Amino acid sequence: MSDTAQLNLGEKTIELPIVTGSEGERAIDITKLRSQTGFITIDNGYMNTGSCTSDITFLNGEKGILRYRGYKIEDLAEHSNFIETSYLLVNGVLPTKRQLDFFNEKIVSFATLPKGITNMLDTFPRDAHPMGVLSSGIAALSAYYPDFLDHDLSDSEKDRAVAQLMAQVKVMMAYFYRRAKGEDPVRSHPSLGYCADFMNMIQYKPGYEVDHEVAKALNVLLILHADHEQNCSASTVRMVGSSNANIFATISAGVDALWGPLHGGANQAVIEMLETIKKNGGDYKKFIKKAKDKNDSFKLMGFGHRVYKNFDPRANIIKKACDTVLSKLGVQDPMLDIAKGLEEEARSDSYFVERNLYPNVDFYSGIIYRALGIPTNMFTAMFVLGRLPGWLAQWKEQVGSPTAKICRPRQIYTGPTVRDYVKVEERK
Ligand code: CMC
Repeated sequence: MSDTAQLNLGEKTIELPIVTGSEGERAIDITKLRSQTGFITIDNGYMNTGSCTSDITFLNGEKGILRYRGYKIEDLAEHSNFIETSYLLVNGVLPTKRQLDFFNEKIVSFATLPKGITNMLDTFPRDAHPMGVLSSGIAALSAYYPDFLDHDLSDSEKDRAVAQLMAQVKVMMAYFYRRAKGEDPVRSHPSLGYCADFMNMIQYKPGYEVDHEVAKALNVLLILHADHEQNCSASTVRMVGSSNANIFATISAGVDALWGPLHGGANQAVIEMLETIKKNGGDYKKFIKKAKDKNDSFKLMGFGHRVYKNFDPRANIIKKACDTVLSKLGVQDPMLDIAKGLEEEARSDSYFVERNLYPNVDFYSGIIYRALGIPTNMFTAMFVLGRLPGWLAQWKEQVGSPTAKICRPRQIYTGPTVRDYVKVEERK
């Protein structure tokens, strides 16, 4: 096949290079389109736009494939843990035992927050949404680490930024979680491991010990959320990072993008939807009807995906994990029955079948978080904890690229053409 594409624009024909990825994906490189032709492209919602080339995550939505740095998500969920997967995402290779220990130690060394940050967290209303708190808290870290305001960080400074955020976001979440419940903070016990330590920090009371199954389930959930190539929040991170904004501002922007219910906020919205269905006597058919009604803005939360048009491999793993975790913890959750009934009904409905709408990662994840004792308004913050290494890897790749450019899309203007200014007293 030719490695160029021809574009005919009336009299003019130009050749555009074709770029082929390592998995055979193809793109037409339009970098020079405007300078050669005066045209730009329009792509509402970036449905067909590759914003970058990337070595981090491979995703094939038609075949339901997701791999981090070449490793299958199924293998990582079964054999790896969240910290090892984070190292893989950020550094590109699975660590040796020594590298992993060093990475862990580095994260552990940042497991406290500056006093000014805890003071600030103390001023938020207890019922503030954790996503707003996290976004503000992460941006505020910039005030305490001015050496990171310089955009031109060395490799070791970037590694420090990664370890620091992995540690401090976890501590910030746990601190605010306990404050919201009116409880004193619990300090980090790194020897427990990242996930068990987090559970201990949020749930500790005398006699409490983190259940092995709980820590294992959290590891799996965070691994499944760790990266997802150029999704809305990762693209936001790349966009903000491309202006050479500091790492705290950049990651804080990622948190904000994730908060929306069409993205990470869907995990909270799913449980709220299931609760509403329960209150309505479990009549999920009524909600399927609402989701299909084009005059109703209601959508089946946790269903559908921009890129997965067959199945979301993360959802398959989570659905299985959900059954295992609930049975191992001896939890019976009526939400699981409603969710399964809703899924079965939707998957046999022609509306959902014709549009390739399947449960996504958020459909069952909330039921596991509930079983782990995490409240609904914390679910999207849990997604932040998981997605953090992905954002950091995307940021590192973006700012480290020798061809990095500020992200600055164009537009086609459709507003009024030039008109004369009219003084206020003369306006009709
Ligand atoms: N319920 C009902 N109809 C839907 C749904 C849904 N959840 N999702 C898509 N559709 C319909 C949509 O109305 C459209 O119908 P038509 O062709 O008749 O106009 C068709 O399916 C195609 O959908 P789209 O809105 O063009 O798809 P998109 O790629 O722009 O949006 C989505 C993807 C995830 C935003 C959307 O499916 C959605 O809103 N889902 C519910 C929210 C959700 O679960 N989000 C989490 C996504 S996974 C986590 C992550 O972000 O990584």
